[in-house]
Amino acid sequence: MYIIAHGGVGSSRELDDRVKAAVEKGVSDNAFRTVVGVVSALEDDPVFNAGTGSRIRLDGKIQMDAAIMYKGDIGAVAAIESVKNPIQVAAKVYETPYVLLVSRGALEYARNMGFDAHDPSTEARREELSRMHEKLHEHRVLHDIYKGVDGGDTVGCVACHNGEYAAAVSTGGTSFSIRGRVGDSPLVGCGFYAGEHGAVVTTGKGEDIIKRLSAYRCYSLIPEVGLQEACDKVVKDHIEGSSIGVIAVGKDGVASASSKQMSQASFCMD
Ligand code: GLY
Repeated sequence: MYIIAHGGVGSSRELDDRVKAAVEKGVSDNAFRTVVGVVSALEDDPVFNAGTGSRIRLDGKIQMDAAIMYKGDIGAVAAIESVKNPIQVAAKVYETPYVLLVSRGALEYARNMGFDAHDPSTEARREELSRMHEKLHEHRVLHDIYKGVDGGDTVGCVACHNGEYAAAVSTGGTSFSIRGRVGDSPLVGCGFYAGEHGAVVTTGKGEDIIKRLSAYRCYSLIPEVGLQEACDKVVKDHIEGSSIGVIAVGKDGVASASSKQMSQASFCMD
Protein backbone atom coordinates (compact mmCIF):
# COMPACT_ATOMS: atom_id res chain seq x y z
CA MET A 1 0.00 0.00 0.00
CA TYR A 2 1.27 3.47 -0.93
CA ILE A 3 -0.51 6.57 0.38
CA ILE A 4 0.20 10.29 0.26
CA ALA A 5 -2.08 13.04 1.59
CA HIS A 6 -1.87 16.82 1.81
CA GLY A 7 -3.49 19.64 3.81
CA GLY A 8 -3.54 22.22 0.99
CA VAL A 9 -0.95 24.34 -0.75
CA GLY A 10 -0.04 27.22 1.56
CA SER A 11 -0.64 25.18 4.72
CA SER A 12 2.30 25.08 7.13
CA ARG A 13 4.60 22.05 7.30
CA GLU A 14 3.98 22.27 11.03
CA LEU A 15 0.66 20.59 10.21
CA ASP A 16 2.38 17.50 8.79
CA ASP A 17 1.63 15.63 12.04
CA ARG A 18 -2.08 16.31 11.66
CA VAL A 19 -2.02 15.03 8.07
CA LYS A 20 -0.11 11.98 9.32
CA ALA A 21 -2.77 11.40 12.01
CA ALA A 22 -5.44 11.49 9.27
CA VAL A 23 -3.48 8.97 7.19
CA GLU A 24 -3.15 6.66 10.19
CA LYS A 25 -6.84 6.99 10.95
CA GLY A 26 -7.98 6.48 7.36
CA VAL A 27 -5.80 3.63 6.15
CA SER A 28 -7.95 0.66 5.24
CA ASP A 29 -7.95 -2.59 3.28
CA ASN A 30 -8.26 -1.11 -0.23
CA ALA A 31 -7.39 2.10 -2.07
CA PHE A 32 -11.00 3.37 -2.30
CA ARG A 33 -11.77 3.00 1.40
CA THR A 34 -8.35 4.40 2.30
CA VAL A 35 -8.69 7.68 0.39
CA VAL A 36 -12.26 8.16 1.68
CA GLY A 37 -11.09 7.44 5.24
CA VAL A 38 -8.08 9.77 5.06
CA VAL A 39 -10.00 12.65 3.45
CA SER A 40 -12.85 12.21 5.97
CA ALA A 41 -10.32 12.55 8.80
CA LEU A 42 -8.87 15.69 7.18
CA GLU A 43 -12.40 17.10 6.77
CA ASP A 44 -13.00 16.52 10.49
CA ASP A 45 -9.87 18.46 11.49
CA PRO A 46 -11.04 22.12 11.64
CA VAL A 47 -7.60 23.46 10.81
CA PHE A 48 -8.01 22.43 7.15
CA ASN A 49 -10.24 24.09 4.57
CA ALA A 50 -12.56 21.13 3.95
CA GLY A 51 -15.58 19.76 5.82
CA THR A 52 -15.65 21.26 9.32
CA GLY A 53 -13.51 24.40 9.20
CA SER A 54 -14.26 25.13 5.55
CA ARG A 55 -13.79 28.69 4.47
CA ILE A 56 -17.02 30.72 4.58
CA ARG A 57 -18.19 32.40 1.38
CA LEU A 58 -18.83 36.11 1.23
CA ASP A 59 -22.58 35.65 1.86
CA GLY A 60 -21.88 33.73 5.08
CA LYS A 61 -22.65 30.28 3.66
CA ILE A 62 -20.29 27.33 3.31
CA GLN A 63 -20.33 25.40 0.06
CA MET A 64 -18.05 22.42 -0.36
CA ASP A 65 -16.79 20.29 -3.24
CA ALA A 66 -15.43 16.72 -3.13
CA ALA A 67 -14.64 13.91 -5.54
CA ILE A 68 -13.32 10.39 -5.74
CA MET A 69 -12.00 8.40 -8.71
CA TYR A 70 -11.27 4.67 -8.66
CA LYS A 71 -11.24 1.94 -11.29
CA GLY A 72 -12.32 4.36 -14.03
CA ASP A 73 -15.43 5.54 -12.18
CA ILE A 74 -16.07 8.86 -10.46
CA GLY A 75 -18.32 10.25 -7.74
CA ALA A 76 -18.39 13.98 -7.06
CA VAL A 77 -20.40 16.71 -5.36
CA ALA A 78 -20.16 20.46 -5.89
CA ALA A 79 -21.44 23.42 -3.88
CA ILE A 80 -22.97 21.13 -1.26
CA GLU A 81 -23.96 22.69 2.08
CA SER A 82 -24.70 21.42 5.60
CA VAL A 83 -23.03 18.02 5.56
CA LYS A 84 -20.14 16.84 7.71
CA ASN A 85 -18.20 14.81 5.17
CA PRO A 86 -18.65 15.79 1.50
CA ILE A 87 -16.20 13.06 0.47
CA GLN A 88 -18.55 10.44 1.90
CA VAL A 89 -21.42 11.88 -0.13
CA ALA A 90 -19.16 11.78 -3.22
CA ALA A 91 -18.43 8.12 -2.40
CA LYS A 92 -22.19 7.50 -2.44
CA VAL A 93 -22.49 9.29 -5.82
CA TYR A 94 -19.79 6.86 -7.02
CA GLU A 95 -22.35 4.07 -6.50
CA THR A 96 -24.82 5.72 -8.92
CA PRO A 97 -24.63 5.90 -12.75
CA TYR A 98 -23.85 9.63 -12.37
CA VAL A 99 -20.56 11.48 -11.98
CA LEU A 100 -21.42 14.81 -10.36
CA LEU A 101 -24.31 16.11 -8.25
CA VAL A 102 -24.51 19.82 -7.42
CA SER A 103 -25.91 22.13 -4.79
CA ARG A 104 -29.50 21.36 -3.68
CA GLY A 105 -29.64 18.13 -5.67
CA ALA A 106 -26.46 16.93 -3.99
CA LEU A 107 -27.85 17.86 -0.59
CA GLU A 108 -31.17 16.11 -1.22
CA TYR A 109 -29.29 13.00 -2.31
CA ALA A 110 -27.13 13.19 0.82
CA ARG A 111 -30.16 13.41 3.09
CA ASN A 112 -31.81 10.51 1.26
CA MET A 113 -28.65 8.50 1.86
CA GLY A 114 -28.85 9.25 5.60
CA PHE A 115 -26.31 12.06 5.99
CA ASP A 116 -27.44 14.29 8.88
CA ALA A 117 -27.47 18.09 8.91
CA HIS A 118 -24.17 19.57 10.09
CA ASP A 119 -22.88 23.14 10.39
CA PRO A 120 -19.25 23.06 9.18
CA SER A 121 -18.47 26.62 10.30
CA THR A 122 -16.05 27.36 13.14
CA GLU A 123 -15.42 30.43 15.27
CA ALA A 124 -12.03 30.96 13.60
CA ARG A 125 -13.58 30.94 10.12
CA ARG A 126 -16.37 33.33 11.16
CA GLU A 127 -13.77 35.80 12.48
CA GLU A 128 -11.74 35.43 9.27
CA LEU A 129 -14.85 36.27 7.23
CA SER A 130 -15.67 39.34 9.27
CA ARG A 131 -12.12 40.66 8.75
CA MET A 132 -12.62 40.04 5.03
CA HIS A 133 -15.94 41.93 5.04
CA GLU A 134 -14.14 44.93 6.57
CA LYS A 135 -11.56 44.78 3.79
CA LEU A 136 -14.30 44.52 1.18
CA HIS A 137 -15.85 47.67 2.60
CA GLU A 138 -12.54 49.46 2.12
CA HIS A 139 -11.67 48.12 -1.34
CA ARG A 140 -15.04 47.26 -2.88
CA VAL A 141 -13.35 45.27 -5.63
CA LEU A 142 -13.34 41.51 -5.19
CA HIS A 143 -9.99 41.11 -6.94
CA ASP A 144 -8.29 43.41 -4.43
CA ILE A 145 -9.44 41.57 -1.35
CA TYR A 146 -8.04 38.30 -2.68
CA LYS A 147 -4.55 39.76 -2.60
CA GLY A 148 -2.68 38.47 0.41
CA VAL A 149 -5.21 35.72 1.16
CA ASP A 150 -3.25 32.63 2.02
CA GLY A 151 -3.61 29.34 3.85
CA GLY A 152 -4.49 25.82 2.81
CA ASP A 153 -7.23 25.49 0.26
CA THR A 154 -8.03 21.82 -0.28
CA VAL A 155 -7.25 18.43 1.20
CA GLY A 156 -6.50 15.33 -0.80
CA CYS A 157 -5.22 11.79 -0.75
CA VAL A 158 -4.07 9.28 -3.35
CA ALA A 159 -3.44 5.60 -2.69
CA CYS A 160 -2.37 2.42 -4.42
CA HIS A 161 -3.23 -1.05 -3.23
CA ASN A 162 -2.68 -4.24 -5.25
CA GLY A 163 -2.17 -2.21 -8.43
CA GLU A 164 -5.45 -0.27 -8.03
CA TYR A 165 -5.23 3.52 -7.75
CA ALA A 166 -7.65 5.91 -6.03
CA ALA A 167 -7.77 9.71 -5.75
CA ALA A 168 -9.94 11.74 -3.35
CA VAL A 169 -10.20 15.48 -2.83
CA SER A 170 -12.30 17.84 -0.71
CA THR A 171 -12.47 21.61 -0.27
CA GLY A 172 -14.41 24.52 1.14
CA GLY A 173 -13.31 26.49 -1.92
CA THR A 174 -10.52 28.94 -2.32
CA SER A 175 -10.50 32.49 -0.94
CA PHE A 176 -13.80 34.13 0.03
CA SER A 177 -15.68 33.37 -3.14
CA ILE A 178 -19.23 34.21 -4.10
CA ARG A 179 -21.94 31.58 -3.68
CA GLY A 180 -22.17 29.14 -6.56
CA ARG A 181 -18.51 29.36 -7.50
CA VAL A 182 -17.00 25.91 -8.15
CA GLY A 183 -13.27 25.31 -8.45
CA ASP A 184 -11.11 22.49 -9.74
CA SER A 185 -11.69 19.96 -6.97
CA PRO A 186 -14.85 18.20 -8.21
CA LEU A 187 -13.81 18.39 -11.88
CA VAL A 188 -12.12 15.34 -13.37
CA GLY A 189 -8.67 16.01 -14.85
CA CYS A 190 -8.49 19.33 -12.99
CA GLY A 191 -8.57 18.51 -9.26
CA PHE A 192 -8.04 14.76 -9.53
CA TYR A 193 -7.38 11.83 -11.83
CA ALA A 194 -6.76 8.11 -11.40
CA GLY A 195 -6.01 5.48 -14.03
CA GLU A 196 -3.68 2.62 -14.88
CA HIS A 197 -0.49 4.69 -14.38
CA GLY A 198 -1.38 6.12 -10.98
CA ALA A 199 -3.48 8.73 -9.22
CA VAL A 200 -3.07 12.49 -8.85
CA VAL A 201 -4.70 15.21 -6.74
CA THR A 202 -4.08 18.95 -7.03
CA THR A 203 -4.50 21.93 -4.71
CA GLY A 204 -4.35 25.64 -5.46
CA LYS A 205 -6.32 28.33 -7.20
CA GLY A 206 -9.09 26.38 -8.88
CA GLU A 207 -9.60 28.71 -11.83
CA ASP A 208 -5.99 28.36 -12.95
CA ILE A 209 -5.92 24.59 -12.35
CA ILE A 210 -9.07 24.22 -14.47
CA LYS A 211 -7.46 26.18 -17.32
CA ARG A 212 -4.42 23.87 -17.20
CA LEU A 213 -6.20 20.52 -16.59
CA SER A 214 -3.41 20.06 -14.08
CA ALA A 215 -4.31 16.66 -12.63
CA TYR A 216 -4.64 15.01 -16.02
CA ARG A 217 -1.53 16.80 -17.28
CA CYS A 218 0.45 15.34 -14.37
CA TYR A 219 -1.08 11.88 -14.82
CA SER A 220 -0.29 11.77 -18.54
CA LEU A 221 3.35 12.67 -17.87
CA ILE A 222 3.90 9.77 -15.43
CA PRO A 223 4.72 7.04 -18.01
CA GLU A 224 6.96 9.44 -19.92
CA VAL A 225 9.05 11.10 -17.20
CA GLY A 226 8.23 9.29 -13.95
CA LEU A 227 6.27 10.28 -10.90
CA GLN A 228 8.44 12.97 -9.30
CA GLU A 229 9.31 14.72 -12.54
CA ALA A 230 5.64 14.71 -13.60
CA CYS A 231 4.72 16.55 -10.37
CA ASP A 232 7.69 18.94 -10.67
CA LYS A 233 6.85 19.77 -14.28
CA VAL A 234 3.20 20.57 -13.58
CA VAL A 235 4.24 22.96 -10.79
CA LYS A 236 7.05 24.53 -12.84
CA ASP A 237 4.86 25.04 -15.93
CA HIS A 238 1.89 26.42 -13.98
CA ILE A 239 0.51 29.93 -14.52
CA GLU A 240 3.04 32.39 -13.13
CA GLY A 241 2.26 33.70 -9.67
CA SER A 242 -0.55 31.19 -9.11
CA SER A 243 -0.07 28.68 -6.33
CA ILE A 244 -0.36 24.96 -6.96
CA GLY A 245 0.43 21.72 -5.18
CA VAL A 246 0.32 18.18 -6.55
CA ILE A 247 0.51 14.75 -4.95
CA ALA A 248 0.76 11.53 -6.94
CA VAL A 249 1.07 7.80 -6.49
CA GLY A 250 2.40 5.36 -9.06
CA LYS A 251 3.82 1.87 -9.29
CA ASP A 252 7.10 2.97 -7.66
CA GLY A 253 5.71 4.93 -4.72
CA VAL A 254 4.59 8.49 -4.06
CA ALA A 255 5.67 12.01 -5.01
CA SER A 256 4.70 15.62 -4.37
CA ALA A 257 5.58 19.11 -5.54
CA SER A 258 4.25 22.56 -4.70
CA SER A 259 4.90 26.20 -5.46
CA LYS A 260 4.94 26.99 -1.73
CA GLN A 261 4.80 25.05 1.49
CA MET A 262 2.19 22.30 1.72
CA SER A 263 1.54 20.08 4.72
CA GLN A 264 1.67 16.42 3.77
CA ALA A 265 2.33 12.89 4.96
CA SER A 266 2.98 9.61 3.22
CA PHE A 267 2.90 5.97 4.09
CA CYS A 268 4.56 3.20 2.08
CA MET A 269 4.31 -0.48 2.85
CA ASP A 270 5.33 -3.02 0.21
N1 GLY B 1 -8.56 24.23 -5.19
C1 GLY B 1 -9.80 24.47 -4.60
C2 GLY B 1 -10.61 25.46 -5.25
O1 GLY B 1 -10.09 26.29 -6.00
O2 GLY B 1 -11.80 25.47 -5.03
